[in-house]
Amino acid sequence: MSNSNRLRIAIQKSGRLSKDCQALLKQLGVKLNLREQRLIAHSTNMPIDVLRVRDDDIPGLVMDGVCDLGIVGENVLEEAQAERLRNEQCAEVNKLAKLDFGFCRLALAWPQELGQQDKDWFNGKRIATTYPEILKQYLKRENIDASVVMLTGSVEVAPRAGLADAICDLVSTGATLEANGLMQGDTILESNACLIQNAALTDQSKLALIDKLMPRLKGVKQAKE
Ligand code: PRP
Ligand code: ZN
Ligand code: MG
Repeated sequence: MSNSNRLRIAIQKSGRLSKDCQALLKQLGVKLNLREQRLIAHSTNMPIDVLRVRDDDIPGLVMDGVCDLGIVGENVLEEAQAERLRNEQCAEVNKLAKLDFGFCRLALAWPQELGQQDKDWFNGKRIATTYPEILKQYLKRENIDASVVMLTGSVEVAPRAGLADAICDLVSTGATLEANGLMQGDTILESNACLIQNAALTDQSKLALIDKLMPRLKGVKQAKE
């Protein structure tokens, strides 16, 4: 559906995945002129445009065919898919590869001073998160009756600010939890970055270009093992 004949790839503009995404494109031989403030970077040696956007926007851009490919955390993808399915919208993408960066887990956490807690403790509590759909599925699965407070950022300060009793957020190194006096509980989802493709892509020249890039991607992954 993308109106350009250049392959459009969505990556995170700034955040945990941006550096690795840029490095990956470079290893795939895609030469880019990445100027700091530009939304779109045109490749100088392949018919490829790279869009730099908020990670949360990437699944939707690929599902709707605005971009042909996207690199995004599985956590963000799963949340977006669950939300779309709930609204009966198209949530289909082809997952082309799991990438070997962006490892993190979505985990529950609560103020350290409360000490170790089990699942029952969450009944009647408020949990702040950026991943309401994934959290609600977990709560349902585990039979926990807690309310979900949606925050798009600074989730880790919610307990201290009195906005929630606990949080459900991404943990990578654990530094954020530590700095905010939070204790880590159950992991709800393990995640890493993945490469997704618009499921309705039929443009032959774009598909041929993807076919050319995929073996290179395998090569890059093997070289790191
Ligand atoms: C996540 C999470 C924490 C941080 C945890 O944010 O919300 O802020 O990473 O990492 P740590 O355990 O290494 O301290 P992310 O980088 O995904 O950015 P975003 O919340 O702005 O999307
Ligand atoms: Zn984000
Ligand atoms: Mg964050």
